[in-house]
Amino acid sequence: MSGSDKTRDLAGQRVLVCVGGGIAAYKALELVRRLRDAGAEVQVAMTAGAQQFVTPLSFQALSGQPTRTTLWDGAAEQAMGHIELARWADRVVIAPATADLMARLAHGLADDLVATLCLATTAPILIAPAMNHRMWQHPATRANLATLRERGIQVVGPNDGPLAEGESGPGRLAEPEEIVAALSGATLRAATVPQDLAGLNVVVSAGPTYEDLDPVRYLGNRSSGKMGFAVAASAARRGASVTLIAGPVQLATPTGVARVDVRSAAQMHRAVFAALPADIYIGAAAVADYTPREPAANKIKKSSESLALDLVRTPDILAEVAAQTQALKLVVGFAAETNNVAEYARRKLEAKRLDMIVANRVGIADGGFESDQNAMTAYWKDGERSFASAPKTQLADELIDLIVERLNA
Ligand SMILES: Cc1cc2nc3c(=O)[nH]c(=O)nc-3n(C[C@H](O)[C@H](O)[C@H](O)COP(=O)(O)O)c2cc1C
Repeated sequence: MSGSDKTRDLAGQRVLVCVGGGIAAYKALELVRRLRDAGAEVQVAMTAGAQQFVTPLSFQALSGQPTRTTLWDGAAEQAMGHIELARWADRVVIAPATADLMARLAHGLADDLVATLCLATTAPILIAPAMNHRMWQHPATRANLATLRERGIQVVGPNDGPLAEGESGPGRLAEPEEIVAALSGATLRAATVPQDLAGLNVVVSAGPTYEDLDPVRYLGNRSSGKMGFAVAASAARRGASVTLIAGPVQLATPTGVARVDVRSAAQMHRAVFAALPADIYIGAAAVADYTPREPAANKIKKSSESLALDLVRTPDILAEVAAQTQALKLVVGFAAETNNVAEYARRKLEAKRLDMIVANRVGIADGGFESDQNAMTAYWKDGERSFASAPKTQLADELIDLIVERLNA
């Protein structure tokens, strides 16, 4: 993403702005205006406290939508309006996030409209805290902040400087333009993170696939999706436009990444090809090799002593992507092996005509599929590089470094 085009990925996004009861609530008006300017659709929900500082009417005028002010809204709740709104949002931003609101979120309370929306949504949440600097530095707020971060909630600010009550310190709401930039994935860290994938489209597949046997059972695998999600997040931070095709996993969508959820190998195949053309394809998903020829329409009953499943090959997504005529700049595959890792990986590199394969050993303690930690080796035609055991987020950054090197080789 180029500096002049920081907010392009907010166009068409549905952003729910939740306003907390802080003195900085007035700055949320400017935030709504900037989000609209960036092409986002915006709806606003306010806490009772927020309404002491700014009127719902001001937000209504700027968002072009009725402002939601209470959970106890008979007309809206006829159609379970709060759940609808939670589902509607692609992104949720809380600005200002007060100490009180952060505490309620950290503890999973649903005692007003804003807290309930945050609990009911699956959209990524960004908070922009603002408060007195002693409140910010209080151990209770620090603990709540750590809990929220651990859950994948993105935090922007607060900034250091003069505060409303005449004191100075960390507690000022981040500027609306900083919040918009963070929301659009073009965080101000761009200044330190090299934007060496700017202008490139990257498609990443991640997670397992589930192949249905009947309406209640499926064939799956133990892929957690963590590595693929970390790679997608890392590529987005480096400036790429990233589409993440995700199998069934319970992971938050990384900032600035467009996510497509799928279940089966066939659906993943369709979604990957719908996301092409691209410059780079990173196939980190553990796609089933076989699927039932015909899933049973009804639950398979326990009848005989044994049951043979009739399975057929699924499409080889990675090989098809590598073989297609629209030349990608780089096609990277992953190999999860339990033994002879290097040999199988090199064989797969050649057979599928990939540019690079990243192999890891699974079935060992402290690494592989479900772990947050991994060690792996990347192979390409005339080279290889080993990555020592590290958190998957760190490995993802190192892998992107290598991908950039190979692109420029
Ligand atoms: C004038 C005034 C300014 C306030 N400013 C802040 C603030 O900047 N940050 C904060 O965390 N609380 C602030 N508070 C306290 C909150 O309004 C209060 O804790 C409230 O319960 C916040 O909850 P809410 O965000 O759910 O509305 C302020 C209170 C008053 C009276």
